[in-house]
Amino acid sequence: MLQDIEIKFPMLFKTATYLQNKMGFFKDSIPRLFDEDFNYELGERICKTGFEMSGEEWNQYYKHVDGLANMSLEFLKLQVKLEKTGKYLYSSFKEVEENEYSKNGLEMEGPDYLWGLYFSEAFWKIHHNFVKLFLRDFITITKEKGAVLEIPCGTGFFLCEFLKKHPKWNATGVDLADTAISFSHILFKANEIPQNSYRLLKTNFFEFGEAEKFDRILCGEFLEHLEDPLDALKKFYRLLKNDGRVFITVAVWAAHIDHIFLYNNAEEVRNHIREARFSIEKELVQTVFEKDKSEPEKSKIPVSYAAILSKN
Ligand SMILES: C[S@@+](CC[C@H](N)C(=O)[O-])C[C@H]1O[C@@H](n2cnc3c(N)ncnc32)[C@H](O)[C@@H]1O
Repeated sequence: MLQDIEIKFPMLFKTATYLQNKMGFFKDSIPRLFDEDFNYELGERICKTGFEMSGEEWNQYYKHVDGLANMSLEFLKLQVKLEKTGKYLYSSFKEVEENEYSKNGLEMEGPDYLWGLYFSEAFWKIHHNFVKLFLRDFITITKEKGAVLEIPCGTGFFLCEFLKKHPKWNATGVDLADTAISFSHILFKANEIPQNSYRLLKTNFFEFGEAEKFDRILCGEFLEHLEDPLDALKKFYRLLKNDGRVFITVAVWAAHIDHIFLYNNAEEVRNHIREARFSIEKELVQTVFEKDKSEPEKSKIPVSYAAILSKN
């Protein structure tokens, strides 16, 4: 199996081998990742584009791949703290801003973290499965033209995949961080997305105007970064056209330095979704750790929640 991968998907193989040698976490997880359901073409494409975005420089490329190892290590360390204290490090946006964003600036939301997120779409099984759901069930639209919004765009990965499939749609990406906006620009350029098909705005979502309505909204890993996620969901509802759809992913009981809102289980996310008047069309609830796999609805275990929503 591994030999096959090495021949057919050389960049994926090289990167996986590098991660396995770098960190015990990947030594265990990568053999499980490469099963019959893994999207090998996508994995190879993520690595190839990452290499291009690294100026085709191996040192630079591996430094970027290290972003994923760092992000994974940070998650494991913070998760231990969460298990001990029963809460995230911070409970308000102000605290995160003062203690992390303004202090660490670029490092916090900067290239390292964004590279980690980018490579996680191939090398974290839970993220890879979200991408597969997104490609299989969300972007299969027949409408030739429309408007799509990604909040927050982060790396811009999801919006970029959307535009590759639907080049005639207009895309808007919004993020608070300069670094997210520039990362997205670089990713779009590497994927040859025409500049006139998108705009990327450095804006706080809560200040984003509501005059324009969208056919599709993408929202990956956002609610847990907010003090009031229900408020954000209600705003999505107002921004979405009546026949529109939302693709959403949410971290449940999973620590990160800038996670604020602590969901204890998937049902708490569903409750917010319903309260905002959305219907759940499809969902994928995955435990982060293999050992919890049989009990994804349990409270106080790390879970990744994804769903496709429509208006009631
Ligand atoms: C974990 S990333 C998610 C990125 C992307 N959606 C994904 O799934 O890969 C969280 C992002 O939220 C952005 N963010 C946090 N609060 C925000 C706000 N109020 N408005 C806009 N962006 C925000 C951060 O700058 C960061 O890029």
